[in-house]
Amino acid sequence: MLRLIGNQFKKPTGLLGKIIVKIMIRGNKPDYDKIIPELEIKHHEKILEIGYGHGLGVNMILSHYDCHVSGIDFSELMFRQATKRNRKYIESKKAELMFGDFLKLETAPDHYDKAFCVHVIYFWDKLIEPFSKIQAVLKEGGMFCLLMANIDFIKKMKFTKDGIFNKYSINQVVDDLRTVGFRDVNYITTHKGYIIKCRKPIQGNA
Ligand SMILES: C[S@@+](CC[C@H](N)C(=O)[O-])C[C@H]1O[C@@H](n2cnc3c(N)ncnc32)[C@H](O)[C@@H]1O
Repeated sequence: MLRLIGNQFKKPTGLLGKIIVKIMIRGNKPDYDKIIPELEIKHHEKILEIGYGHGLGVNMILSHYDCHVSGIDFSELMFRQATKRNRKYIESKKAELMFGDFLKLETAPDHYDKAFCVHVIYFWDKLIEPFSKIQAVLKEGGMFCLLMANIDFIKKMKFTKDGIFNKYSINQVVDDLRTVGFRDVNYITTHKGYIIKCRKPIQGNA
């Protein structure tokens, strides 16, 4: 049962997925409240959210900022919920929600001003490949911002014990971001974890 619940956080499906997502929305809205101002969004910027889930983050951004948000998520249930939640923004071409695996996404390089993800990196078995991919899709000087729970918080939860969640320490994440070439890697602590911010270097300043 615990494995079943853990899997629902990785890729929500079916009735159990719908229940877990209700819990996720309640639990993670405060995380979106914290990370969105950290994105320092400016007019007409192109933002990418990886693992948008229920689509609340996309909705919160577009109700406050004049920008364009793209998102990708590999759960069909999440794609449907996020599409419903953001229909008016999709119709007005302010949002574009993709259904697929970010790790397999073919995106033009140097495309986004900002990229972010909230409670997603635990489901990546290695961080170097996804971090390199994120860096590739960002414009020079572009920002990547991620929110993750503290390793002790993750270890304490019963449904994270089954090998579905990778338990990354803040030091490992910071090291891996630097290894792929991100600059200005800084983090702040939140009530249950961290928000880490970094930038893709500008050619010539690397
Ligand atoms: C724990 S949920 C977090 C959802 C939302 N960001 C939040 O914080 O409430 C993780 C989400 O990331 C998505 N996800 C995980 N790995 C992914 C990948 N490689 N590509 C696309 N989506 C992914 C899952 O489908 C799920 O919706």
